Formats: sequence, structure tokens, C-alpha cells
Amino acid sequence: MRNVPLTVTVNGRTLTATVSARMTLVDFLRDTLDLTGTHIGCGHGVCGACTVRFDGVPVRACLILAASAEGRTVDTIEGLSQAGHLSDLQAAFMAHGGLQCGYCTPGMLLMAHDLLADNPHPSREEIRQALAGQICRCTGYGPIVDAIEAAANAMAKGAS
Ligand code: FES
Ligand code: FES
Repeated sequence: MRNVPLTVTVNGRTLTATVSARMTLVDFLRDTLDLTGTHIGCGHGVCGACTVRFDGVPVRACLILAASAEGRTVDTIEGLSQAGHLSDLQAAFMAHGGLQCGYCTPGMLLMAHDLLADNPHPSREEIRQALAGQICRCTGYGPIVDAIEAAANAMAKGAS
């Protein structure tokens, strides 16, 4: 199988590697970089468990080849906390029961982070729409929406 060189910036750190031309980005993150916070659910672009930011845009890492990340930036759940401290979003998910088994949580958090960057005061309906492609089998979604709403309020207070 053909291997290709790869230079990519992951969570702010630029690194080089040699990857199989057929390796997916999610396998590269998990198996090569040991960034196992990015989960694999369906493996077919349906569940959102593998969501990462690719040049700042949320994507499904199971649908992207690692080789296509050449020269790009990738941000994973491991990059969301700052200096070992939970982000406001992560803290709100804990406080509001926005996770149970946690399998969907990294993808939920990255989608929520993207939503709040674009729309710091989303309505509950806008939150639900933003998460429409993320599947959670545990929470019923209500606590996740509560958590994102609370994080938006906390971030607004912090900014004022
Ligand atoms: Fe990628 Fe489900 S594992 S969308
Ligand atoms: Fe279990 Fe969402 S918390 S799948």
C-alpha cells in the first residue's frame, strides 16, 4: 500500500508523519497520535462521534483521508481545554448532565463550540438545529441543550 508524507498542525502543534494513502483522519488521530478523544461510532459519516475542526470547520474525520490534511490545521477535543482547565462548555456539560456514557460528547462539544463562536446567544431551537447531525443514545438531548445554553450565559458574563 502506498505511503505518503504528511505535515499537519494538530491542536496548535505542527508535526510530520508518513501515513498510508488510505488511512482516515480519525484513524491517524487515534492510532498514530494517540488522540483517542475523537471517537468512532458509525464510521460512515452518520453519527458525528468523530467530529473535529479542519481549518476551523467541523468535519467528520471518518470521511476524510489523513493525507488530505497536508498543510491544514486540525483541532480535536484534546485542544478544547486550556492549560489543563475545562472550558466553559466542558464545565457546563458536567454541571448539567450533558453526558452519560460520553461517547458522543467530544463531537457534541466541538459542534457546540463552533455554534457559540458564530452565534454567542443561540436560542434552544438554534442549538437543536446545530446538533441535528450529532447522535446521542443516552441523554435525550435536553441536558445537552441546557448545558450549551448555560455555557453561552457564562461566556457572556465572562465577556462583560
Ligand atoms: Fe464518523 Fe460516525 S464515526 S460520523
Ligand atoms: Fe452516551 Fe451521548 S452520552 S451517546
